[in-house]
Amino acid sequence: MVKVAILGYGTVGSGVAQVLHENQDSIAASVGQSVEVKYILDVRDFDQSPYGGRFVKDFSVIEEDPEVSIVVETIGGAAVALNFTQRALRAGKSVVTSNKELVACHGLELTRLAKEKGVCYLFEASVGGGIPIIRPLTVCLAANQIEEVCGILNGTTNYILTRMIQAGLPFETALKEAQENGYAERDPSADILGYDACRKICILADLAFGKNVDPQLVPTEGITGISLADVDYADGAGKKIKLLGRAVRQADGRVCAYVAPHLVDVTHPIAGVEDVFNAVFVKGNAVGDVMFYGRGAGKLPTASAVVADVMDIARSGGNRSPITWGDGDPALVCGTEELVSRFYVRIKGAADALRNQVGEIKLLARSGATPDEAAGITELAMTEAQLREKLMGMEVLSLIRVLN
Ligand code: NDP
Ligand code: HSE
Repeated sequence: MVKVAILGYGTVGSGVAQVLHENQDSIAASVGQSVEVKYILDVRDFDQSPYGGRFVKDFSVIEEDPEVSIVVETIGGAAVALNFTQRALRAGKSVVTSNKELVACHGLELTRLAKEKGVCYLFEASVGGGIPIIRPLTVCLAANQIEEVCGILNGTTNYILTRMIQAGLPFETALKEAQENGYAERDPSADILGYDACRKICILADLAFGKNVDPQLVPTEGITGISLADVDYADGAGKKIKLLGRAVRQADGRVCAYVAPHLVDVTHPIAGVEDVFNAVFVKGNAVGDVMFYGRGAGKLPTASAVVADVMDIARSGGNRSPITWGDGDPALVCGTEELVSRFYVRIKGAADALRNQVGEIKLLARSGATPDEAAGITELAMTEAQLREKLMGMEVLSLIRVLN
């Protein structure tokens, strides 16, 4: 029997316990032995929980129990979770996590520590919730040189944008719904300011390009600047606004990585990704385009990925081949300075003035627009700096890239 300890009995941790319990027979059949939760560590008391006698508050109980071979870390953050993960690995226990902040910021050292100790550090749930993406990228697509990874990587913001677009809800109401559904981070600014998507694109870039990409080097913009006016103009142009994370291999070998809202044509498959769903596109030089799609957040979808990692380790007896990557280099990562795109722009001012300054631009209309506001999509692709130079002296209300 494989004995597991769960750290953090919140949205994901309680889902992991539930899936391990409800699917115990099929899991045992697949692994070849039963997988049982021996301890659950949390700071709170859960008197009504069916796992009553298993709750502990002292991590050393888990650390010092040789029966526990797999630790599931679902506390979140990069403070106590880092300490517990290091201690578990040093104690010869494999660790499975959904904690993308920890993987993005400390994944390289933790995967190396796991390798050194002959155990596993797996993190399928850290990107895309229930979507299988880490294994496909590292195993199924291993024959390719990856050219680009791009996707909707945050369920909360996609849920908010969908509710704003489809139901006309104000931003705050849509965010409250996402929190009630258990999608949002403890501090939801990580979702709405784009940091969560940034951590995920960094993890994907680490794996796709084989070198550590530091989240601090990745330009990141969230959705707080998106207004219903932008949504309406985009709609009039046959486009939707989506928050995307992208990592693109440059001809010189550098990686252009960033997170920003984009206008996406309604005919593009990404435009149809609504609600809490995420989608990840991978472009390989042999396979071409591949898209992965599913629920990007939520209790059971995320638990599905965590438990699959637990089963993978249990099946291999901890001898699974490690997932890791190489050291980073600040010179490897470039921002968006050289990236050329068409842009959607909304200004305070007249449409004629916008056309005069930008040149070739497709002007957009929306009902309820005031005469002192104009918006359009540039006909030509250019860098953001080139566009800002053309817009010099104008009050720019929105500037959003258009996905090619
Ligand atoms: P929650 O806040 O719901 O759960 C975390 C749990 O850990 C809470 O019960 C919390 O208790 C407990 N906790 C906090 N500090 C400690 C500590 N020192 N020792 C023991 N327990 C502690 O978070 P989620 O389940 O939503 O997320 C967990 C991780 O998974 C995060 O990294 C998140 O980013 C990631 N994730 C979340 C997804 C989701 O849909 N929610 C999807 C994919 C990944 P208390 O509440 O009292 O502080
Ligand atoms: N807060 C995250 C999201 C959880 O909304 O995508 C899943 O990583």
